[in-house]
Amino acid sequence: MNKLPLFICSLLLVAISPANLHSQTPTLGATPPMGWNSWNHFKRTTNDAIVRAQADAMVASGMRDAGYTYINIDDAWEGERDSNGEIHTNSKFPDMKALADYVHSKGLKLGLYSSPGLKTCAGFEGSLGHEQQDANTYAKWGIDYLKYDLCGLRVQMKAAKSDDVAFKMMKDAYIKMRDALRATGRPIFYSLCQYGHNQVWQWGESVGGNAWRTTGDINDNFKSMVLIGFHQAGLSKYAGPGHWNDPDMLEIGNGGMTTSEYQIHMSLWAILAAPLLAGNDLSKMTQETKDILLNKEVIAIDQDSLGKQGDRVWSEGSIEIWSRNLADGSKALGVFNLADTKAVTSIHLKDLGITGTVKARDLWLHKNVDAIDPSYKATLAPHSVLLLRISQ
Ligand code: GLA
Repeated sequence: MNKLPLFICSLLLVAISPANLHSQTPTLGATPPMGWNSWNHFKRTTNDAIVRAQADAMVASGMRDAGYTYINIDDAWEGERDSNGEIHTNSKFPDMKALADYVHSKGLKLGLYSSPGLKTCAGFEGSLGHEQQDANTYAKWGIDYLKYDLCGLRVQMKAAKSDDVAFKMMKDAYIKMRDALRATGRPIFYSLCQYGHNQVWQWGESVGGNAWRTTGDINDNFKSMVLIGFHQAGLSKYAGPGHWNDPDMLEIGNGGMTTSEYQIHMSLWAILAAPLLAGNDLSKMTQETKDILLNKEVIAIDQDSLGKQGDRVWSEGSIEIWSRNLADGSKALGVFNLADTKAVTSIHLKDLGITGTVKARDLWLHKNVDAIDPSYKATLAPHSVLLLRISQ
């Protein structure tokens, strides 16, 4: 008997087995998404002109070339449904297809927002009962990213008989939109937003999430950023190519923190392999803001091809050390001083699994650090970070 066809069949079966499917580079979100989102700065005032200005600024500032590609319109674009149930934009967005064409012409992608409930958080039309119809509309407009915010569905969930029923209701709602998006045939990055309830990191991938918010909303102040960012410890194992933990959008450049506090924000989000979605007005950036958002060495940490999220490795009082393993065998090491006073701390490299002679580069000073010995002492200003890339 000719065994060749059987052999080829077995090869094919191995190639398409679930394990292999998982190990292949995902089409969407092979590295964490980078872009801009309207909510943090513009809230409900976002309109067509603002979005075009952000796309222009993303190109002119060099952000697009640094890897930022998504222009995401958050809540408050929605209008009414017509008699066929089709969703329309409100008057701030006269023509979503034309806007998508404009954004695409700049080499960028366009994202939208909706809710699995009847209403969104800001009280606009949600997608409940119109999931496939809405997904088709997004595809027709040329949408590339959907943030799907639980919000309105909480009304139905509260009326559920038990927590388990409510939990299932939420998961089913996310699955429904996943299937609707897939049925359009258009690759649309699917971002779950339900504030981390029911440990979403454990099941977000199984309902099709390319990313899931792990927390409530960030605010533009040090306390909020620290509370969110430094509470991500222990979540690293749930993230990977195609499915990322999302500790919310960036506040860099919005004015509520100092430059070194925003450096903490950017450094930690990069170690966390978090989506880097700028939340400021890109058309009015100071040089300090550009230097943070456009720091290519820090972006390279976030976008590292290994896709391994970092985690806390040490903390004492207000000093925290977080580290992330990188594809070339090096490590990103963030030494954070969250105190209001100066701090001097030893970095015991051996305790971090690093032995022998090391080379280190300071990613904010863009300089190699000469004297890294086994117990290197770092002096840190209040609310500041030393971000190193360490290799041997
Ligand atoms: C929720 C989300 C925010 C934003 C608003 C919009 O609060 O968590 O990120 O999308 O809704 O209404």
